[in-house]
Amino acid sequence: MEKILVIILGLLLTFPSIAARKPIYKDSSKSIEERVEDLLSRMTLEEKVLQLNQYTLGRNDNANNFEEQVHKLSPEIGSVIYFSDSPELRNSLQKKAMEESRLGIPVVFGFDVIHGYRTILPVPIAQACSFDPELVEEGASVAAMEAKKAGVDWTFSPMVDIARDPRWGRVAEGYGEDPYLASVMAAAAVRGYQGTDPSDGKHIAACMKHFVAYGASEAGRDYVYTEVSRQSLWDTYLPSFEAGVRAGAMTVMSSFNCISGIPSSADSYTLTEVLKNRWGFDGFIVSDWGSIQQLRSQGFVSDKKEAAMASMNAGLDMDMMNECYDAYLEDLVKEGKVSEARLDDAVRRVLRMKFRLGLFEHPYVEPTKYMERFLLPEYLETARRLAEESMVLLKNDGGLLPLSKPSSIAVIGPMAESRFHHLGSWQGKGTGEFVVNTVAGLKKRFPDAQIVSAQGCDFDGGDRSGFEAAVKAASEADVVFLCLGEKNNWSGENASRSTIALPAIQQALAEEIAKAGKPIVLVTTSGRPLDLHLLEPLATAMIQEWQTGLESGNALAALVSGDYNPSGRLAITFPYSTGQIPIYYNHRQSARTNQGFYQDIPSKPLYDFGYGLSYTTYSYGKVEVSDSLITKDSKIRVRVPVTNSGSVDGTETAMLFIRDPYCSVVTRPVKELKRFSRHEIKAGETYVFVFELDPQTDLSFVDSEGRRFLESGEYDIIVKDQIIRLTLK
Ligand code: NOJ
Repeated sequence: MEKILVIILGLLLTFPSIAARKPIYKDSSKSIEERVEDLLSRMTLEEKVLQLNQYTLGRNDNANNFEEQVHKLSPEIGSVIYFSDSPELRNSLQKKAMEESRLGIPVVFGFDVIHGYRTILPVPIAQACSFDPELVEEGASVAAMEAKKAGVDWTFSPMVDIARDPRWGRVAEGYGEDPYLASVMAAAAVRGYQGTDPSDGKHIAACMKHFVAYGASEAGRDYVYTEVSRQSLWDTYLPSFEAGVRAGAMTVMSSFNCISGIPSSADSYTLTEVLKNRWGFDGFIVSDWGSIQQLRSQGFVSDKKEAAMASMNAGLDMDMMNECYDAYLEDLVKEGKVSEARLDDAVRRVLRMKFRLGLFEHPYVEPTKYMERFLLPEYLETARRLAEESMVLLKNDGGLLPLSKPSSIAVIGPMAESRFHHLGSWQGKGTGEFVVNTVAGLKKRFPDAQIVSAQGCDFDGGDRSGFEAAVKAASEADVVFLCLGEKNNWSGENASRSTIALPAIQQALAEEIAKAGKPIVLVTTSGRPLDLHLLEPLATAMIQEWQTGLESGNALAALVSGDYNPSGRLAITFPYSTGQIPIYYNHRQSARTNQGFYQDIPSKPLYDFGYGLSYTTYSYGKVEVSDSLITKDSKIRVRVPVTNSGSVDGTETAMLFIRDPYCSVVTRPVKELKRFSRHEIKAGETYVFVFELDPQTDLSFVDSEGRRFLESGEYDIIVKDQIIRLTLK
């Protein structure tokens, strides 16, 4: 022994560089994988377990308490949810991790940056209505920049759950009912948050959630059981996640629901077999808040230790606020109930993400002045453009809109002057104070008009005392803006509603206002599709505004004045009434196409997926397909000339659907969106949209095990009302 020590000492004295050499994991010239392996090999069991836990920091923003909070957290902790927006607080915890932990592993700071951090953008369902993935990407990059400067490295976004029940409050947070549109938007958001180099100090890690099929909540109730067949899992709920994984999403969050009997947060099929093994996802999976310990309330395990074991063995890597992994993982590994290999796999994934984010080289964020990090003019500009593109013109009788120089406008309803309720749920660090509301937007756009406002009534309740003043204002104006809608917290998490109709008091106000006989522009602000069938007959024009964030009023004013020609299209069906739910365009083909209708209400929705008007008209020329006889390996080129046949410039979104009229494996949807493209077309001009399809990906389908198949036979290409039949040999 003594001899060996003498030899080592001799070597160190002869080659001092060996003694001084940096450990591989601290050497940025080494590959990430080498650094991960090196670091992992140095970690104790306890250190590994701590990396797999996430606590919170900063909910209490009293500066005097900061130190105490930081003090409480272990310097070895893997992650925190960072509720503060002060780089100083963040840096103080990071300093502790870098200097007081044995190996100096940085903490990763996560936060729900859902549709903007301080510059609040439209809620995601609204963004989806833009059908503009480039702008959605730009919005996510604005959110990333603001968040990063405040000290956030990781957002729990995008939510890519397919949602077909608007009673579920979380429809606001996703991209709607269609797997293809949601896939395109998922990839766009991931690119926007992460950029091409997530370590450049301007980007943050994305987290796709909620894996998986959380949106299938029964009857729109949050957190409940979901009944999802393997077939629907593969053809409806998984594609948007796969698209985000392909776009490089660094993390995924497991969901609260249980999938036909197996809770998502303990489901090895989806977490390990599909996500990690089949798709090769090398990032990590974080639980949803409490979703590990909630396996107990789901009746899947009897205590927290079993919960930790079930989730860990299913492939869930990080524990968000469960107090399960920190309390039990060490013992579970020692008892052989969780293998060391599985533990190492989870830790490796967490470390990989931290290296990718550049946290080892740049653990701290540079403290900047508030004015330098938030609400920059270029950020607000993105927010306005996204708001303009998100709003959907639903009705415009007699061409009421755009308004030409109105001399007097009455702005009526609970949303007339509201700022806060334009933000939508998960408003990050956004505040109502910076929202341009409807009245302010209209005043700025129509400086010569006399603009009066009257609330008329509250969002709900029975108080009609404001009706009289509202009716008076309406009767004295040229045109009425009736601004109805939902409160901020009527959608979002844990915000289910039994009806998607607005409360009776808002309907009653609309009926009273209609009696004044003035043209009504109905503007609806909401995070979900609404039942508008009783309001529609009262309105001359209708705009589904959604919750469009800070720039709502400016964007609305741009639309109604004609400065922006509406281009939004619904990313989710608007049912005729709650009784039709669920209703979505891409349902499977049914046995009797001319029967099975409701006896008491229409069977068609009020507004279909993809619906949206413009101030101009577009006429579609003949759709041409490169060849109607195709092989599995040929590419299909589809061209369609679209002419702006009206008198104003506009932006049209052309959509291409396919249909497989007969499939021997499984019945397929009546229509499946496969491509869309938006393009500005000047009045009188024609633009030719060109789409290229690959039969292997675009005509094929998946079976219940996710195996893609492509059958020979007939397929339809559908563009607007034209159907072109193809034969695949
Ligand atoms: C619970 C929500 O379901 C999830 O979307 C969110 O990211 C986490 N809480 C963290 O706030």
